[in-house]
Amino acid sequence: RSHRVAVIPGDGIGLEVIEAGKKVLAALANKSGDFQFEFEDFDWSSQRYIEKGEYIPKGGLEKLSKFDAIYFGAVGSQDVPDHVSLWELRLAICQGFDQYANVRPARVLPGVNSRLKGADEIDWVIVRENSEGEYSGNGGRVHQGLPDEVGTEVSVFTRKGIERIHRFAFELAQSRPRKKLTLVTKSNAQRHGMVLWDEVFFEVAKDFPDVDIDRELVDAVTTRMVLKPETIDVIVATNLHADILSDLAAALSGSLGIAPTANLNPEGDFPSMFEPIHGSAFDIAGKGIANPVGSFWTAAMLLEHLGENVAAERLMAAIERLTASGLQTRDLGGTATTEDVTQAICSDIEAQ
Ligand code: NAI
Ligand code: MG
Repeated sequence: RSHRVAVIPGDGIGLEVIEAGKKVLAALANKSGDFQFEFEDFDWSSQRYIEKGEYIPKGGLEKLSKFDAIYFGAVGSQDVPDHVSLWELRLAICQGFDQYANVRPARVLPGVNSRLKGADEIDWVIVRENSEGEYSGNGGRVHQGLPDEVGTEVSVFTRKGIERIHRFAFELAQSRPRKKLTLVTKSNAQRHGMVLWDEVFFEVAKDFPDVDIDRELVDAVTTRMVLKPETIDVIVATNLHADILSDLAAALSGSLGIAPTANLNPEGDFPSMFEPIHGSAFDIAGKGIANPVGSFWTAAMLLEHLGENVAAERLMAAIERLTASGLQTRDLGGTATTEDVTQAICSDIEAQ
């Protein structure tokens, strides 16, 4: 069988880690022998925007919709405002393809040194609502540039949008050994949309009596993540809250360079998109020292999504042997380059 994967490396270290990830995916397909990848590269990037005034060409999303999955690097450039790059590329795909479930696992890989006490207890999945809420793009500015200028950023929460993400999170929690789900909102200070989030959560909970639930305010959950990491299994939270919590989760598990993300359209009407959680990292771009492990773990999520579970497990095992071996990039305290790590993983896969 063959899987058609659209590859959008984007900007900065996105180019480096996705190139590395493609090599690893090809090595896995080679090893397995019963599937292969047809990669198609897309140059949708800030470079393209600067030259042509657009990230995505006309008809681009239509073309992308024919693929089995999307493998994405990062977008962001010092020459384009971040709200432009994010909205014109990444959010255009996530929202255009109704990838409403953003899934972010966090775990301390063997040999990785987290500075957090009790970090080996971290085994979390953060489920982020990825289609509405604080990132609806709803709002505006009046009296621009004047002293009494006003900007509004209005969150939009719909019952449908809330219900489907809760249902997704419950199903995910149900599939895990501990079957725990923590609802995170800020429904004391925000008394409309957040209260609706809470209400719908407890309605959906009735269909999942075997899932152990609790709730936490977003500020309080940050302290719980640091002080009692073992009490958390799956978290479900809004677009903004989960965005922040998942960066914290990544840092607590060792480095932003390790963490993966899946942007899922669970119904399968559109392709889902897989990306490392980190951005384009101006400070290290072009130096060949970016940690590619985040993009490898992302590749494992992509494989699982395509039904290639054996290859996904093989890749995760290779990643764990790699981190345990101490061959680590600078963000983890080592001296290895992107290339060193990529070669080590590919040889390990070949040797197994
Ligand atoms: P960032 O994630 O690019 O970098 C934050 C810090 O983590 C930097 O010190 C960087 O060197 C380090 N880091 C990140 N990934 C690493 C890796 N694989 N290996 C080693 N070190 C790594 O976030 P930052 O600096 O806030 O944003 C830079 C640009 O990326 C901005 O334009 C931002 O908008 C964009 N961005 C894009 C994202 C996406 O495409 N999904 C996500 C986050 C930021
Ligand atoms: Mg983020």
